[in-house]
Amino acid sequence: MQNFIAIILAAGEGTRMKSKKPKVLHKILGKAMIEHVVQSLKEAGANKIVVVTGFKEQEVRQGLGNSSDIIFAHQQKQLGTGHAVQCAMDNVAPTDTVVVLCGDTPLVTADSLKNLVEHHTSQGNGQTVISATAKNPAGYGRIVQQNGNISKIVEQKDATEEELKITEVNTGIYCYTGKSLISAISKIENNNKAGEYYLTDTVEILLRDNEKVGSVSGGDYNEFAGVNDRIQLHDASNFMRERINRNHMINGVTIIDSATTYIGRDVRIGADTVIYPNNILEGSTSIGEDCTLLQNNRIKDSIIGDKNKIESSVLLESTVGNSSSIGPFAYVRPNSQIGDEVKVGDFVEIKNTVMGDGSKASHLTYLGDADIGKDVNIGCGVITVNYDGQKKNRTKIEDRVFVGCNSNLIAPVVIEENSYVAAGTTVTKKVDTYSLAISRVNQENKKDWVKKRNSVEN
Ligand code: UD1
Ligand code: CA
Repeated sequence: MQNFIAIILAAGEGTRMKSKKPKVLHKILGKAMIEHVVQSLKEAGANKIVVVTGFKEQEVRQGLGNSSDIIFAHQQKQLGTGHAVQCAMDNVAPTDTVVVLCGDTPLVTADSLKNLVEHHTSQGNGQTVISATAKNPAGYGRIVQQNGNISKIVEQKDATEEELKITEVNTGIYCYTGKSLISAISKIENNNKAGEYYLTDTVEILLRDNEKVGSVSGGDYNEFAGVNDRIQLHDASNFMRERINRNHMINGVTIIDSATTYIGRDVRIGADTVIYPNNILEGSTSIGEDCTLLQNNRIKDSIIGDKNKIESSVLLESTVGNSSSIGPFAYVRPNSQIGDEVKVGDFVEIKNTVMGDGSKASHLTYLGDADIGKDVNIGCGVITVNYDGQKKNRTKIEDRVFVGCNSNLIAPVVIEENSYVAAGTTVTKKVDTYSLAISRVNQENKKDWVKKRNSVEN
């Protein structure tokens, strides 16, 4: 196919959001609306994406991560959708296939965009419009037909009584042949009720110039719904959440309550994993097969293997092997690697730490900047004292070490394999293999001390 380029209109302010933030940066399942649009375009095969910005341009650029594969065009004043496209025309060549759409239609799928481009190309059209049947067409441009073919798009404001009854609406998503767009865009005028340059006028312009214009039905209108306010943002979120969840169900994942399960668009989940209510799975997270995510987890940018059980915990930018158990109430912070058959129990915080296969920290422990080997037992209340006030230091705990309860391991320090640390010990220097480290004040029992104190007080 010829060069497939896309123009995303995103210069408007989005006043109805009542927000300091540009509308297209509001998120749906953890991703800005415009990022959803960009992703669908890329999946559909777009090889160049131009974003028209105006209101808070810098923020929109930053929101898109200043991506090098996105070109930005500036629209100084918002004079209408036709004018917005004019601002991007430097990037359009006559042989290009150009898809134009809005940054606030986050639900559009790659399949619909592919279908649009295929239909456009096979019909040899100058322009093709995605149309949809709306239950309530108010606010949308209506598709006016003549002899079974689209003859124009009329905006609500400019429509006659008859035209207002039409329920086939313009989704605002179009495909143009570069040459046709170049010729039509310069002919748009602003002699309408809004005094704006309407992109929708290209339909009549191209037909007048004897070019073919067609429409393709987009099916479910919900997919093309624009988000203008927070209620529509909420509704679009619900729609996408259901779509994603159902897809996982089709692929063999059990979701007990879809309404309280928030799974980001890029998350992968293996078959026979069961997800209980109130789970949030974000970013590039991947969950293996046969896992049980009990209630109330938040897992972000993490790779979780098979057969793990996770309950009421937070895991960020970390990995877990297979058959491990996390939580309830564990906090696994970035850059942690938890192995196979590991137990991370209640109120355990782990950060930037490796925990080898078969190791256990069952309760109330802080493990930061530590390298923990295999089959290590970390007792209740153990702390790796990793911060000396200036820098972070590492603690190394080798295979089969037993660390007794309430021990402080003052880093940097090494505890060699097969050694023991007695409960209540403060470890400040290396513990040799097979040794016992113990550092406690010897216990002394003062006989009848309580009785004596009481008699002094009386
Ligand atoms: C537009 C269509 C309408 C269609 C509807 C679908 C026109 C004239 N009308 O109407 O037929 O049914 O979309 O949602 O095109 N924008 C700019 N610069 C501007 C004006 C708008 O970048 O000067 C951007 C906005 O930020 C927005 C998009 O274009 O993302 C659409 O603009 P908007 O004013 O919302 O158009 P609608 O009235 O919804
Ligand atoms: Ca709109």
